[in-house]
Amino acid sequence: MADTKLSEEVLNHSVHSEIQARDFYKQIGDRVQNKKGRKRLVKLSQEEDGHRALLERRYKSLYGKDFVFDPNVKVGPRFDFVKTSLFSQSEALDVVSVGISAETEAITYYSEQLETVEDPEDQKMLKDLVKFENRHKKKLQSEYKRLTKKYYWA
Ligand SMILES: [Fe+2]
Repeated sequence: MADTKLSEEVLNHSVHSEIQARDFYKQIGDRVQNKKGRKRLVKLSQEEDGHRALLERRYKSLYGKDFVFDPNVKVGPRFDFVKTSLFSQSEALDVVSVGISAETEAITYYSEQLETVEDPEDQKMLKDLVKFENRHKKKLQSEYKRLTKKYYWA
């Protein structure tokens, strides 16, 4: 089909995963004592919210309706453990690892979708998202290294 656009299903999945990534970083950030650590997490959360907004706008423009969040859809990082974690060094490293996996999944997902669309607007959006999530992954890998050398979240 010429000029293939992102399907409603893919956009729906993508918005859910951005919301869950946003909430993941927000919930951790809210509980990290260290100012610098907290700031980095809040920034990640804000950026994920920007991705959510971008995808929601695309959803509305292609399908003519507002995106509806379904709490039963689980596509982003699992983070129930965050609520009870005291963030020892090993727990902090686990949390960052979950973030790295979630970013890797997002990069793979958007890259795969990029192969399926022909619409230039969708192509640009997906390329940008791959770039943004790669940046997040690198930031988290740096955070992981910092936490290995010196624990400072608590
Ligand atoms: Fe994102």
